Amino acid sequence: MTEKLKIGMIGCGEIAFKSTAKAIQASRNAEMVIGMDTIAEVASSFGETYDVPHTTEVDDVLSHPDVEAVVISAPHFLHEPLTVQAARAGKHVMCEKPIACTLEQADRMIAACRDAGVLLSINLMTRYSAQTEKAKELVDAGAVGRIIGLQFHVMADKPESYWTGGYTGRVKTDWRMSREKSGGGVLVMNLIHDMDRFRYITGLEAVRAFAEFDTFCTDTEVEDYVSATYRYDNGAIGSVTAASCARGGVAHGNRITGTDGQILFERRELKVFTRKENIGLKPGEWNTVPMPEEDYPVQRYVERFADAVSSNQQPDIPGEEGRKALELVVAAYRSGENHSMVEIPLS
Ligand SMILES: NC(=O)c1ccc[n+]([C@@H]2O[C@H](COP(=O)([O-])OP(=O)(O)OC[C@H]3O[C@@H](n4cnc5c(N)ncnc54)[C@H](O)[C@@H]3O)[C@@H](O)[C@H]2O)c1
Repeated sequence: MTEKLKIGMIGCGEIAFKSTAKAIQASRNAEMVIGMDTIAEVASSFGETYDVPHTTEVDDVLSHPDVEAVVISAPHFLHEPLTVQAARAGKHVMCEKPIACTLEQADRMIAACRDAGVLLSINLMTRYSAQTEKAKELVDAGAVGRIIGLQFHVMADKPESYWTGGYTGRVKTDWRMSREKSGGGVLVMNLIHDMDRFRYITGLEAVRAFAEFDTFCTDTEVEDYVSATYRYDNGAIGSVTAASCARGGVAHGNRITGTDGQILFERRELKVFTRKENIGLKPGEWNTVPMPEEDYPVQRYVERFADAVSSNQQPDIPGEEGRKALELVVAAYRSGENHSMVEIPLS
């Protein structure tokens, strides 16, 4: 049996507790050796639930001789300082999305990890969902032809309690409301996953953005409604509509439109129309492509990162990819602030 990657958890709040820790425990090649949170009860409940030692001191994690990598699941404005500290201590970093609040912070994280010779990856785990993989396979096979449109549609109805305690109330906090601490609202918090996975699926890069956003119904600094238009390097047009205050909410509705078909992302399936033969679908009509009942994208993310460490390869989603996803979001925010079009450099 191969050695498991030994992980220290920095931040044991909502996502670490309900998702990442379980994914690590279920993984074939990683294990947790210590949990750390600045709030003592959050650290101790994590340690007791997952049967790992716990602490409130980040130095206990970074000086731990067994810890090879850290998972950073802290508020967005802390991603940079914690990543830089971990890199300087020689630990590989798996950081939650978004990479940071600003591109400058992201650059410093990437540089610190590069200088220290450690790997940095951003948990944009939606790339590993069965739905994403299937959509990529269809696009690569030419099912939709040349892509002309990308649609991102997230109409969420986040309860008031979300802003001070997330979905579970595990941690009482205010960072999600603050622009400085979170970098923004629904766009950076949720849409970043979709924008990242559509980059992965299509290979298209946005070259300019125009956006409007506002805060209509929520007592927060961050936006609760945003609309954005992107132009891509092949000429395709992207449209974003996202809200965290859409009363009643609606399931997500993303779509890829091409010259020969469309792919609709539904909750547990893809709906695909193609005019092409030999795609494995019926041409000229809508096909339903079901997704597996059980899907473990976070576990795959962890396993692939552990594989990257053990084989000394770059991870699938390195810091640069996390930065690119953030760049799309930042361009929309800049556009919305100035009511002007923002160019996005191709790198
Ligand atoms: N990948 C996903 O799908 C997904 C889903 C939800 C959240 N997230 C991301 O995970 C991160 C955390 O979100 P959350 O919902 O768990 O937030 P949270 O507020 O529930 O938890 C954050 C934790 O970080 C702790 N913390 C604060 N300062 C710290 C420090 N200096 N060192 C260590 N811990 C510290 C807090 O005490 C808190 O327990 C964010 O980046 C968020 O966007 C990702």
